[in-house]
Amino acid sequence: MPQELPDERAIRRRAADAGQEHVFRFWGDLPEEGRRRLLAQLAEVDFEELAELIDQHVTHRRPPELPPDLEPAPFIPLPTTDAERSRRARMRQLGEELLAAGKAAPMVVAGGQGTRLGFEGPKGAFPIGPVSGLTLFEIFAEAIHAARRAYGASIPWYIMTSRANDLATRDFLEAHNYFDLPRADVKCFMQGMMPAVDLEGKLILSARDQLAWSPDGHGGSIRALARTGMLADMAARGIEHISYFQVDNPLVPPLDPVFIGHHADAASDMSSKMARKREPKERIGAFCLSGGRLHVIEYSDLPDALAEARDPDGRLRFEAGSIAIHILSRAFVERLSAGRRFALPFHRAEKRIPCIDDRGRPVNPARPNGIKFETFVFDALPMAENPVVLEIDRAVEFSPVKNADAQDTPTTARHDMLMLHAGWLEKAGVAVPRRPDGEPRFWVEINPRAARNVEELKALVARRGIRKVTRDLYLA
Ligand code: UD1
Repeated sequence: MPQELPDERAIRRRAADAGQEHVFRFWGDLPEEGRRRLLAQLAEVDFEELAELIDQHVTHRRPPELPPDLEPAPFIPLPTTDAERSRRARMRQLGEELLAAGKAAPMVVAGGQGTRLGFEGPKGAFPIGPVSGLTLFEIFAEAIHAARRAYGASIPWYIMTSRANDLATRDFLEAHNYFDLPRADVKCFMQGMMPAVDLEGKLILSARDQLAWSPDGHGGSIRALARTGMLADMAARGIEHISYFQVDNPLVPPLDPVFIGHHADAASDMSSKMARKREPKERIGAFCLSGGRLHVIEYSDLPDALAEARDPDGRLRFEAGSIAIHILSRAFVERLSAGRRFALPFHRAEKRIPCIDDRGRPVNPARPNGIKFETFVFDALPMAENPVVLEIDRAVEFSPVKNADAQDTPTTARHDMLMLHAGWLEKAGVAVPRRPDGEPRFWVEINPRAARNVEELKALVARRGIRKVTRDLYLA
């Protein structure tokens, strides 16, 4: 008698009870190792959660309802008056004090697969610096070096990966010596995975002994922080505020003292940065209020009538766009991740999911054949007390790299970096020759470790005696 594999019976029973026994279709053909692999994966499936998701998203197809009576969300605008400017200065000071006390740390979500960009490898390894060729990860690391120096604190950096890119990310960091940050202060952690189901709600096999999995969305960062011990790590270090950003935005300041100050001053659970939408259908989420609670409604879910609605003065009513930069209080993440059921709702995404057919042959479907379940971090906002929405200047902080061509591409991001840094040089008193159409004649780029803003740049160009740009320039 061959020995029964561990837990085989219990797992088979759970799968059968959930109507998923078809995953054992090839059991008879599997070698022992394959059987172990399949069982280990099934042991990871939360069949109770899965049953609820299938009931909601497949059997009854109840899409998450749009919150009722949506109103535009209030936000703190960019300062235009002296009072607003001095408030901002106070917030900056508060944020700087918290940074110096080691109470804030950056976290980047980098678990996505970057398929739209068509780049093999973790997106953070994508070279984006227009002159330097620095990768996204390196640019963030340089900004973190700058913050460590400015605030005299040993600031850890949390990087969320997924099973799809965790090894490649760690290899990349290792190969670059963690960009000279202390090894113990660069903390990678993996987000969770969700099993994908077909359009009838059956688990998809991607091989005879392998389920099809996909990352559980950036909202998964909340439970991954708890599960992987990162929340405990933060608590041990005294970190209270988590500065959250996406790997796709080379302009993001990983630690913005003004934003941290506003967040802390308001005793906010979760704060967000916003930019005014460029056009009604811009593909960014919109900040809305419903029943006094803050929501981000994804561009694909915002009804046209609301997306296009205008105030009497012609401004878009729902103009506050989410640029996916937040601060989460550690205590809030602890609360959200404490329950047995995950606090964030799952969304349904129909996708083409490589699978096998009845005879075990690989199939690459031409049309969506399955459903992935994803959570969004901004779905935590309605649960947040005192949420702050802070307007920023998108030319300074937001130019995401999402697609290979058309919008939000490497070309547009490099151009935005060029225009920003050329403008900073001019404000710092350096002549930047421009063409009649306003385009700088040379490429310029400023490493955030050299200068993070005009004030720091002024000091730098004075020290180095830079008066005019006469060829491509990279200030590091
Ligand atoms: C996202 C936001 C949108 C916002 C815009 C700003 C969603 C659904 N929409 O759009 O509201 O206005 O950014 O740029 O998020 N990620 C993970 N794990 C996952 C999935 C994603 O870490 O399982 C990370 C990605 O690596 C990336 C980020 O989350 O850094 C954004 O994901 P993506 O799917 O590209 O969102 P967008 O549709 O671009």
